[in-house]
Amino acid sequence: MTSYTDTIAMSASRRAMELEYKYGAHNYKPMPVVLEKGSGVHVWDVDGKQYLDFLSAYSAVSQGHCHPAIVGAMIEQAQKLTLTSRAFYNDRLGECEKFLCEYFGYDKVLMMNSGVEGGETALKLTRKWAYKVKGIAPNKAKTVYASGNFWGRTLAAISASTDPSSTDDYGPFLPGCEIIPYDDLDALENILKSDPDIAGFMVEPIQGEAGVVVPKEGYLKGVRELCSRYNVLFIADEVQTGIGRTGKRLACDWEGVKPDILVLGKALSGGTMPVSAAFADDGIMLTIAPGEHGSTYGGNPLACAVTIAALRVVDDENLSENAEVMGRLFRSRMIDLQQQCSLIEIVRGKGLLNAIVINDTEESETAMNLCYRMMEKGLLCKPTHGNKIRFAPPLVINEQQMNLACDIISEVFLEMNGKL
Ligand SMILES: Cc1ncc(COP(=O)(O)O)c(C=O)c1O
Repeated sequence: MTSYTDTIAMSASRRAMELEYKYGAHNYKPMPVVLEKGSGVHVWDVDGKQYLDFLSAYSAVSQGHCHPAIVGAMIEQAQKLTLTSRAFYNDRLGECEKFLCEYFGYDKVLMMNSGVEGGETALKLTRKWAYKVKGIAPNKAKTVYASGNFWGRTLAAISASTDPSSTDDYGPFLPGCEIIPYDDLDALENILKSDPDIAGFMVEPIQGEAGVVVPKEGYLKGVRELCSRYNVLFIADEVQTGIGRTGKRLACDWEGVKPDILVLGKALSGGTMPVSAAFADDGIMLTIAPGEHGSTYGGNPLACAVTIAALRVVDDENLSENAEVMGRLFRSRMIDLQQQCSLIEIVRGKGLLNAIVINDTEESETAMNLCYRMMEKGLLCKPTHGNKIRFAPPLVINEQQMNLACDIISEVFLEMNGKL
């Protein structure tokens, strides 16, 4: 056991890490850095060292850490009213719902908290619609997902997962989940054609957790056409790709398609609190009646105030446009680096959702070692699926900060490649 004198002698960061290890479940393996402050693209550790945040809490902090307009709206609302539950009306929810529907172009929205609850809401809506509108026999509705998908950690979400580290020893799973390869329109058509019990296809426009897998141009358009042709709902999980991250308001906007159900989360609150939402038009959304779905905190006044502020920041500061320009700069610098560095197999992404695939196996430590070295030099990121490193800074990053980040990344890659 650690004595009191040991504890005070310990560095603040070691103490924080040990406390988490001792008292917290071991369900994450964080990078060994203890953060205590954030502003814009920067975070600082407990020793005052500054870092460029190139993960943005998995794309949630798109507006930058502690954006004053969002934090200001949060404080103002927190001092007035935070939670009413949906047993009563509150003066913020309707206003926020109107704002969201007009912003994203849907008749209705259903607000929840975490991203996975947004996905769960989409799935429940799909099933209601299947029975009440499409006419599928009771309990027979199926939903199709793409392999490599990630939409969270609940049992419904992992029932759709193809990743053993998400599913092992958690069975039995939800029935009615069908898996097809990602970015494969023939596979989608084959399954939709062959099974009239399919109610929906839920897909990420770019697979973030899988390592920023960008489908071929035309994929989303093809998905839209096939879903319409076979009377199946197209559910876009834009929890990671939405709200400017890929250089457009939604990643689906790149192909001009409108999903039947849109799921958003993460950046909806600019990283201040869990807020998610599922959007649909009346024919789908009104299949759910009072008492059939909900959440104590879903649509709370605090979330509503924060959400409106967070989305206004995206427009006021032209964050989608900035993501597009800064993303192009990032990829061009990384493609230049790739010419000199055999460690880089692939550079891919859209806007500010990018990844480098390392020329090594998924089991190798190479990507993790690169991340440790970048951390030492003041840039934070983390591998996903072993040999892929995702680079997703806040969308407020400017050219000078991006060039500095690219200098650090280049230096570390060349050093590890034995070229420096
Ligand atoms: C595409 C996608 N959907 C859903 C989720 C789940 O969001 P949350 O962790 O807020 O439940 C994530 C989280 O990373 C995600 O990337």
